[in-house]
Amino acid sequence: YVIGVDLGTSAVKLLLVNKSGEVVHEVSKEYPLIQEKTGYSEQNPEDWVTQTVAGLKELVETFNGNANEIEGLSFSGQMHGLVLLDENNEVLRNAILWNDTRTTPQCQTIYDKVGKDRFISITKNLALEGFTLPKIVWVQENEPDVFAKAKTFVLPKDYVRYRLTGTIHMDYSDAAGTSLLDIAQKEWSKEICDALGIDISICPPLVDSHENVGKITSEIVAETGLSADTDVFAGGADNACGAIGSGILSEGKTFASIGTSGVVLSYEPTGDKDYEGKVHYFNHGEENAFYGMGVTLAAGHSLNWFKKTFANDLTFDELLDGVGDVPVGSDGLLFTPYLVGERTPHADSQIRGSFIGMDSSHTIKNFARAVLEGITFSLNESIAIFRENGKEINKVYSIGGGAKNTDWLQIQADIFNAQIVRLKTEQGPGMGAAMLAAYGSGWFNSLKECADAFLEDADTFDPIPENAEKYKELFQLYRDVYK
Ligand code: XUL
Repeated sequence: YVIGVDLGTSAVKLLLVNKSGEVVHEVSKEYPLIQEKTGYSEQNPEDWVTQTVAGLKELVETFNGNANEIEGLSFSGQMHGLVLLDENNEVLRNAILWNDTRTTPQCQTIYDKVGKDRFISITKNLALEGFTLPKIVWVQENEPDVFAKAKTFVLPKDYVRYRLTGTIHMDYSDAAGTSLLDIAQKEWSKEICDALGIDISICPPLVDSHENVGKITSEIVAETGLSADTDVFAGGADNACGAIGSGILSEGKTFASIGTSGVVLSYEPTGDKDYEGKVHYFNHGEENAFYGMGVTLAAGHSLNWFKKTFANDLTFDELLDGVGDVPVGSDGLLFTPYLVGERTPHADSQIRGSFIGMDSSHTIKNFARAVLEGITFSLNESIAIFRENGKEINKVYSIGGGAKNTDWLQIQADIFNAQIVRLKTEQGPGMGAAMLAAYGSGWFNSLKECADAFLEDADTFDPIPENAEKYKELFQLYRDVYK
């Protein structure tokens, strides 16, 4: 057995997985967000550790076997969150998370000091509020006493792993989201550190996601009941682990994930593709691979908001029942899902959403379909960027909440103009983490081999040509709304 630990934003989820890739036990433990001011989003790293250790203990207790049979564990982590450690590896302040938006001025400082084009050519990404470097610069400017004591920075799952093993590392896939990594060269950028007055020694040692970084400490053995022989593998960023967990491990493989936010992620075999920062470009959890990624901030969030605000007496199934009977284009109603700003392609935290074309004949079903279509158009902006840069996207794995409703799956097929595939069982990033532990433990010769053994396609949805044609026109209209 192996364990996949998925350190998310609201909870840590742990999966105990057997050699056939089946989840035999699952535990989830929540922790709070700390929001002291508008735009602030923090967490106490100690909460992650307490809840992960409690989760591991529960998983071992509910497992009817011998703890020795659990060979290893690995991690998937919420990306970008800043954890600052002092010379004794004590946490200096609360972690500042990926969804914290206080750092708009620091993003400008980064461009001013490094040069925007140079910054994008090294990091392959824009300087965004959510990423780690602007948070480091914010602490440097606003909490100089804290910054002076900072000897190392790590990301959320790296801190939890440190507390389980006593060793500090960061894997390439998560380091890619810090804005301090030279993505193609796979090394910390001294140029960026120097330009911002950051000592490069605060950057931790880099490792591959499947790399064995040690055993768990005797203290954790005593607290959890795990065997002292349990190997710990570095793990990866949640999106990289989501890619592994849904088999996005070769050229031509793409997923569209619709959760609270939406992600379109496509495999890249090399680090030299240039999307000019229009989509994110990160190192994969598979060694020496990469992926491009576009993000819609309010995907499922838009549907939740709509239901809560206008149809709270209905269940989601009731709200979406019959949207398949509403014509393509919702009889002229168009929705843009910019409820909390947008990342791809606009990188605009100020823009807000809209319904356009309301007609007195429209019912709640037109609105529900328009919301699904608007979210999907937003994801299609990312697909369009991939295609405009020569990528072929003919088949898209649909994962997350957006893969539950068959009318929405058909809408995805028609708007993306690609075949949509669902996986038989889908466990998201936690499965990717478990697969890293399985590969690291030597069960397989590669992650691809592991994916072949663990993952299976379930059903497919093909585009209906006349719908795809209509959506092609409507997508132009959708794009014009932002302008
Ligand atoms: C990716 C991002 C989010 C977090 C969520 O750039 O900000 O997907 O990783 O955990």
